[in-house]
Amino acid sequence: PPLHTLLNLDEIEAVAKTRVSKKCWAYYFSAGDDLISKYYNSAVFRSILLRPRVFVDCTQASTAATLLGGTTRLGTPLYVSPAAMARLAHPDGEAGIARGIARFGAMQLISNNASQTPEQIVADAKPGAVFGWQLYVQTTRSKSEAMLARINKLRDHFKCIVLTLDAPVPGKREHDEKSNLESQVEVDSASNDKSADEKRPGGGGVGQQLFWGTAADLTWETTLPWLAEHTDLPIVLKGIQTHEDAYLAAQYARKKPGSVKAIILSNHGGRALDTAPPAVHTLLEIRKYCPEVFDTIDVWIDGGIKRGTDVVKALCLGAKAVGVGRAALWGLGAGGWKGVDRTFEILQDEIVTCMKLLGVKEVSELGPRFINSRIVERD
Ligand code: FNR
Repeated sequence: PPLHTLLNLDEIEAVAKTRVSKKCWAYYFSAGDDLISKYYNSAVFRSILLRPRVFVDCTQASTAATLLGGTTRLGTPLYVSPAAMARLAHPDGEAGIARGIARFGAMQLISNNASQTPEQIVADAKPGAVFGWQLYVQTTRSKSEAMLARINKLRDHFKCIVLTLDAPVPGKREHDEKSNLESQVEVDSASNDKSADEKRPGGGGVGQQLFWGTAADLTWETTLPWLAEHTDLPIVLKGIQTHEDAYLAAQYARKKPGSVKAIILSNHGGRALDTAPPAVHTLLEIRKYCPEVFDTIDVWIDGGIKRGTDVVKALCLGAKAVGVGRAALWGLGAGGWKGVDRTFEILQDEIVTCMKLLGVKEVSELGPRFINSRIVERD
């Protein structure tokens, strides 16, 4: 069907499923164990109710947003979550995602295991396009150091380094593993060239193969000082799942200004520890136990975003930016860069409609007063 006839993100996913390979579908769709976290990621947004105000002039609503302490300006508070291997879905790959989101002014975080190199991805980037680089620290640290040096050279485009913490070992993803048993595919990420000795000898799915060579020994004490030696870009910690770790991140940011600038509340799209909490639960924990975190660092969230109302609810509860992972990949699978464009057009229209129906003109007006207090203990 023509892309403009697809009206929501579920419809785009359904079309993508018919166009991508079985292997691609299994890898993108998969999540840990019984997919419980993946399910809750979406379900939790549906259980949150809104409180619209009326008699407000809302002929215009702006989604413009500012991140990372005012240094990064976006047309919309959306980012594409880092996700490996976009070219499994479509030859347009990560560069196609960049092209697809260009007219909306969203940010794109590129996976350590992207299927195109960072240089290729930014080659045709629109002026003002904002990228971040996601790092899986490699056991051979010099490989990560070399990658950071490459990103430092692309500073016109890359505005942050995203360090992923929620998957020190890969989750058990049975859809992915099963499809790999049926047909082995050689996986290689263009960005993160792994030498032959580091390649897993087959089996375990795409996720497990890409994971080979990733360090499991990261800590607050050793990894952040090491990272700061190799980049002076703002650091974003991805995969925070408790208020305790959010507090530690904010404490670190206060002690070492200019280092950690944001955290991403995420359970990796349910792909790491199954039954880990959806990001909204962590957001509510932070509101309750250590709300000062919001004043110290940006809090971004991802997981399960399917509707503009999901995005607006996250913003109301204190998130500064909201990420989409699979939705961007399904857009790519459904129609290459144009499918990504359609995905973001739908999401952006839904966000603006939601803001107008709430009686809000600017993102900065969004707050907990627009959320039904049933689920927010403290405003
Ligand atoms: C991911 N995710 C991910 N995260 C990361 O930090 N590095 C990575 O390489 C990947 N790779 C990856 C591949 C695929 C196929 C998916 C679906 C996800 C997790 C991603 O950044 C994000 O946290 C989730 O995808 C968000 O959930 P939704 O939007 O997919 O529900």
